[in-house]
Amino acid sequence: MARILILVGTESGNAQMVADALKPVLVAAGHKVDVSDKAATVGDLEAHEVFLVVSATHGTGEIPGNMLPLAEALERERPDLSGHRYGVIALGDRTYQDTFCGGGKKLDQVFAACAARKLGERLEVDASSQPLPDEEALGWINGWKALV
Ligand SMILES: Cc1cc2nc3c(=O)[nH]c(=O)nc-3n(C[C@H](O)[C@H](O)[C@H](O)COP(=O)(O)O)c2cc1C
Repeated sequence: MARILILVGTESGNAQMVADALKPVLVAAGHKVDVSDKAATVGDLEAHEVFLVVSATHGTGEIPGNMLPLAEALERERPDLSGHRYGVIALGDRTYQDTFCGGGKKLDQVFAACAARKLGERLEVDASSQPLPDEEALGWINGWKALV
């Protein structure tokens, strides 16, 4: 059993919908799961072994505003997260081309820079071809949860 924190970066709710769909799957696998759509702190991270970042992209490849305080704190403080593991689900839209899934990609880099160990490959969900991001995420989580 792991303590998992799902970190939701969202402006208009899709990432929250994905997190809400995934939480019961991880709970059914025996994990304790918290979901945060507020600005989680570095202390919140340290209380969990595993993080699952579920983040949209806004602006021009940017991290959603609700997730920015945490991302900036991690960049500034660089806490040692080497005892922690993480996964990333990035939501984006391929019509944005060069900045596709930029928010999730940036958060992936931030956690890697703090030495957290990534579990599996990042899932990138394209809103222009996939109107139901939770369905794609539910397929991905089966492989990911086996790595936790
Ligand atoms: C104003 C705006 C800017 C966006 N910019 C990007 C972008 O630069 N790259 C990208 O891949 N997707 C971009 N998107 C698409 C969103 O990331 C995508 O629709 C996502 O599913 C929204 O999730 P949310 O409802 O959790 O905020 C943008 C969407 C909006 C409305």
